[in-house]
Amino acid sequence: MAGTGIFTEILDGEVYKYYSDGEWKTSSSGKSVAIINPSTRKTQYKVQACTQEEVNKVMELAKSAQKSWAKTPLWKRAELLHKAAAILKDNKTPIAESLVKEIAKPAKDSVTEVVRSGDLISYCAEEGVRILGEGKFLLSDSFPGNERTKYCLTSKIPLGVVLAIPPFNYPVNLAVSKIAPALIAGNSLVLKPPTQGAVSCLHMVHCFHLAGFPKGLISCITGKGSEIGDFLTMHPAVNCISFTGGDTGISISKKAGMIPLQMELGGKDACIVLEDADLDLVASNIIKGGFSYSGQRCTAVKVVLVMESVADELVEKVKAKVAKLTVGPPEENCDITAVVSESSANFIEGLVMDAKDKGATFCQEYKREGNLIWPLLLDNVRPDMRIAWEEPFGPVLPVLRINSVEEGINHCNASNFGLQGCVFTKDINKAILISDAMETGTVQINSAPARGPDHFPFQGLKDSGIGSQGVTNSINLMTKVKTTVINLPTPSYSMGHGFISRL
Ligand code: G3H
Repeated sequence: MAGTGIFTEILDGEVYKYYSDGEWKTSSSGKSVAIINPSTRKTQYKVQACTQEEVNKVMELAKSAQKSWAKTPLWKRAELLHKAAAILKDNKTPIAESLVKEIAKPAKDSVTEVVRSGDLISYCAEEGVRILGEGKFLLSDSFPGNERTKYCLTSKIPLGVVLAIPPFNYPVNLAVSKIAPALIAGNSLVLKPPTQGAVSCLHMVHCFHLAGFPKGLISCITGKGSEIGDFLTMHPAVNCISFTGGDTGISISKKAGMIPLQMELGGKDACIVLEDADLDLVASNIIKGGFSYSGQRCTAVKVVLVMESVADELVEKVKAKVAKLTVGPPEENCDITAVVSESSANFIEGLVMDAKDKGATFCQEYKREGNLIWPLLLDNVRPDMRIAWEEPFGPVLPVLRINSVEEGINHCNASNFGLQGCVFTKDINKAILISDAMETGTVQINSAPARGPDHFPFQGLKDSGIGSQGVTNSINLMTKVKTTVINLPTPSYSMGHGFISRL
């Protein structure tokens, strides 16, 4: 159970502690933040409402711990990460339980998130050892006008303090996807979890604590965004921000200083379906892509753009599959569970009502109980409807019928988002042309959008983000290149003759 066994020390009465200086602490604010269970809409957990002074303290500790960590051998950093991964996986059950309670993720998917996170940490440790263990050696005579008098050595050095801000939908996985690359590269790490998902994050951080990382190297600070949000992101000690979430990221990017940013801010992933597509494959992928975790994934299929000639058949196939989706509690592994908050459910309802007023075809009756929204396919959606452009982050999927591939590509490219997209066709040549024409960070051919496997590059264009993720890209983003140039008094060419006489 969450907060028990090896996790007892992270709890103070009914409030979870925050992590600073290698210890679990109670905030001097005396205040807490409630975490509402999306299914019951009652307070499930409480976390510390940390103060700005406590933020200052973790930043000071992070700065000093990083200096010693940078001197820790790479193999040793990797060893500790492997240890944390193993502890995390061994404790998947209590961590998954907190995911179920605070973000209503189905129980099975919650376990998968924890295991996937352990694998990500281990992969990162291995990749870091490889890519950080080698640098470059450049010779000056390859550039016009130069003799071979300069030897340039390059290596990757840490940035300093990395601030990680994961989202509610993958509080563990999208936290470790920032923590592990930061640490292997020799940085220290300050984690600000989302409110829904904070308790899962705190459990995950305890696994790093038990692995034996040095004091102050990792901190986890909880609290209200209004109190510590801007204070954290604008803190002068922060040397890099890795953020996943909504358009808050855009305002962070405007306020942050001259530091590297890694941001993933959502998407309106289009699924373009051509006449020759395997419609059974498309229907299964629309269900998986559009409705898993109730559509609360930035990579969810968020608009289907289907050729008119096959639209009726496709809609029938998807409708039949929607009818089989189970709706109810995450504890029972239902496919569709409550969305994360009441405000999110209200927003989704607003999009549905707008589509209704403007004449979309409802393939199912709209049904909502509290935060639980039944899966809904909206056919004959037109570009004047909000749902054609906005991301519901819920189990509601619009279908726009198109008369040409160009129409589909134009709709995809007119979006302010550009995360992923997918195209279904048996013609690989057409698929490549369409993929090249789609202004998104990734295009999946004949499968729904997805971030994983977690070592693949993952990036968004336009308002979908800055920088690229995936293990290797994250390690590179969290380092800087340093060069040392050895200047020789005379040119030296290996295997060249006559040097002795010049000595
Ligand atoms: O919600 C944003 C995530 O990066 C999506 O990850 O494709 O593994 O569900 P996923």
